Amino acid sequence: MDRTLLVTGGAGFIGSNFVLSWLARGNGRVVNLDKLTYAGNLQNLQSLEGNEKHVFVRGDINDRALVASLLQKYRPDAVVHFAAESHVDRSIVGPDDFIRTNVFGTFNLLEEVRTYIKSSGDSRGFRFLHISTDEVYGSLAPQAPRFCETTAYAPNSPYSASKAAADHLVRAYHETYGVPTLTTNCSNNYGPFQFPEKLIPFMLCQALAGEPMPIYGDGQNVRDWLYVEDHCEALIQVLLGGRVGATYNVGGNNEMTNVEVVEKLCRILDEVRPDRGGSSYSRLITFVKDRPGHDRRYAVDASRLKDELGWIPKESFDSGLRKTVQWYLDHPEWIAAVKSGSYREWVALNYGKREIQCEA
Ligand code: NAD
Ligand code: TYD
Repeated sequence: MDRTLLVTGGAGFIGSNFVLSWLARGNGRVVNLDKLTYAGNLQNLQSLEGNEKHVFVRGDINDRALVASLLQKYRPDAVVHFAAESHVDRSIVGPDDFIRTNVFGTFNLLEEVRTYIKSSGDSRGFRFLHISTDEVYGSLAPQAPRFCETTAYAPNSPYSASKAAADHLVRAYHETYGVPTLTTNCSNNYGPFQFPEKLIPFMLCQALAGEPMPIYGDGQNVRDWLYVEDHCEALIQVLLGGRVGATYNVGGNNEMTNVEVVEKLCRILDEVRPDRGGSSYSRLITFVKDRPGHDRRYAVDASRLKDELGWIPKESFDSGLRKTVQWYLDHPEWIAAVKSGSYREWVALNYGKREIQCEA
């Protein structure tokens, strides 16, 4: 099977992992459209240098003339849409880019795709796969059932609200214009190439630098962690076999509090990279002022994906976290490159004003 995909956001964390997985399977060609914001990094795709199956185009999904020309030139069989502003804390500090990229960007892509499939005549084989988040469902009470595909949307951050708006547009373009869409709503990912602003790589980098590991609030917020390669495998299965117009929840069945995650990370580091002084990295854990509107619990019921397409995650949290730690330890040059430039400004801005709440 030789398919051409137009991937948006393919030099970010999940997008680059997806491009590598897709090409490793020999499934066809990828045209990768990415603006390369602070979160996009071509080093993630260094192993594809010279690979003719990967075409990288630096550009914005809001540039409709560019999107139209790529669709006409490469005539993709699918658009796989990752491009987004993805960090909740940044959406609290400055929501504008989230609306611009996540809402208007998705709208602009959908409009160009609508024109493209109309001009192609037969759109039956085409797919628009929209990658979204479980955060659109809002916050769960401790004993509440997990999110399923029919859970009502109740986003609480500018990030999740912008993703919810995009999901609704995708749904509407299927219902109104017959665009053959697929939507996935996934839980928190972790793994190689994740920008060190999200919990796991941020704490890992702080620990390696001997800096404080700042946990928001009481650290009892729960997330459902999924190893990124398991997410990519789910996306490939949805792309190849998902029901047109359907949404699929993707989750790791790995509910953990933030304190549990950070303590586990410290234990692995103590084992594989003991600190010179011999004391545990957990001494660096610090509790700081909470994030505003901080969702208490996310948990995903992925049984539709299992029942319809047979997908289940391969990694346990323990095995996935060990692989992740090892990847960051093996790639100090990647960490050094992404921690230069505006990274320090972000850390000062986000953490500078969070006074310490209580001792670990
Ligand atoms: P990321 O922030 O690492 O990468 C986003 C990529 O999009 C970057 O390469 C960036 O340069 C690019 N981009 C941003 N604005 C753009 C624009 N206007 N035009 C073109 N490219 C642009 O994000 P990620 O963690 O890889 O997330 C990818 C997708 O998956 C997002 O849509 C996100 O909402 C969703 N998602 C993420 C998670 C998670 O845990 N990270 C979980 C569920 C869903
Ligand atoms: P994050 O990785 O930002 O993902 P999301 O907010 O999309 O779930 O955060 C995961 C959890 O970790 C979330 O409950 C917030 C918390 N957190 C901290 O306690 N400290 C931090 O420095 C960061 C970045 C996150």
